[in-house]
Amino acid sequence: MSRIKVRQHVNPLSIIYKESLIPPDWSVVYPGLTAPIHLDIGAAYGRFLLELAQHNPDWNYLGIEIREALVTHANQKRDDANLTNLHYVFGNINTSLATLLASLPTEKLRRISIQYPDPCFKTRHAKRRVVQPELVNDIARYLPSGGEVFLQSDLEWVAQEMCDRFSENPAFRRTQLEWIEPNPLSIPTEREVATLNKGLPVHRAIWVRE
Ligand SMILES: C[S@@+](CC[C@H](N)C(=O)[O-])C[C@H]1O[C@@H](n2cnc3c(N)ncnc32)[C@H](O)[C@@H]1O
Repeated sequence: MSRIKVRQHVNPLSIIYKESLIPPDWSVVYPGLTAPIHLDIGAAYGRFLLELAQHNPDWNYLGIEIREALVTHANQKRDDANLTNLHYVFGNINTSLATLLASLPTEKLRRISIQYPDPCFKTRHAKRRVVQPELVNDIARYLPSGGEVFLQSDLEWVAQEMCDRFSENPAFRRTQLEWIEPNPLSIPTEREVATLNKGLPVHRAIWVRE
């Protein structure tokens, strides 16, 4: 896949990412709005959803990404592949999740994935991490019972910290205590490929909305 030049990281707390996104008209985006929806948070170049959308035409796939150039690139790749069950939006999940979910036919929302979120190593940058209690509350509010949240990271402490946030919310139940092996979604993300190529472990968990 060709690479475009983009900033390595952005600060989601910066003033320029404070505005909530304006959702599109989903009935224009997806011709088949009755299909189950999978939302991928931090979709990057979008290769993961592109492959899933090709494999599962009966699902609608939506990616959100804070680096706008990647969103433009991913939607171009979607158009090149003539896919109508895939879309990417530019936005900061920490300011846009509630707006985004409220705009969707959430009875169709079946899965949310958060994969290899930026670790933001420094303790003083902890507020930049994607999985905050507010995000878990918003997911609890909109994800129907039985819907799942798929989490993974190469860094065990990052995966554990995401799990800690979900375990603090009584709306969620973890499907198994051990890290999940192999990947039940079968399509690896870009970071997952890099991790597996280095022979490093991946830490995965699924949380189900009660
Ligand atoms: C380490 S990359 C992982 C990308 C992809 N999920 C994968 O597994 O290959 C994390 C991605 O999340 C995006 N991101 C970070 N904070 C975000 C936020 N607040 N809202 C939306 N996307 C965010 C980054 O720009 C980056 O593309």
